Amino acid sequence: MQYVYIVVIGLHVMAGVFWAGTTIAVARDSEIKAEHFIRPQLGASGVVFLTGLLLWYFFHQGAFGSMEVVLALGIAAALIATGVQGALVASASRQLAGADAAKQTQLRAKMTRGERIAGLLLVITVFCMATARMF
Ligand code: HEM
Repeated sequence: MQYVYIVVIGLHVMAGVFWAGTTIAVARDSEIKAEHFIRPQLGASGVVFLTGLLLWYFFHQGAFGSMEVVLALGIAAALIATGVQGALVASASRQLAGADAAKQTQLRAKMTRGERIAGLLLVITVFCMATARMF
């Protein structure tokens, strides 16, 4: 069973680091093409939620103390970040093909805004995940 925990936590942290790291990088530099990252980012968020739910089931089922409150805060921020990336970044990246230059500039600004909001929310998530144990 120990091996299952190791694999699940490893996948959780690696996918989470990729998701949060690339979101913050894309948010910081508008030269990076957000459309190259949005699908892997949403894929990573799926892995993070799946493994995160397993971790909750393994270690926190039936408990709701201060650690779980902090984890839940991080999970809520991650959920909103996924929604923002889906609504602002993924939808704009689908409209890029075939758009004229003016429309592309507008869509890219929308994607950068989405990545910035998601990046801020994921900073909250990472902080909560990393410190929950101390509460
Ligand atoms: C950017 C996203 C995320 C990152 C980087 C991340 C990272 C981490 C890290 C490093 C830990 C280990 C904390 C420790 O052992 O002290 C952790 C624990 C945990 N994470 Fe996440 N996480 C993310 C999102 C999520 C989401 C979305 C969920 C739920 C759906 C979740 C559920 C959990 C749970 C339940 C634990 C506690 C495991 C335990 O008690 O050992 N995480 N996370």
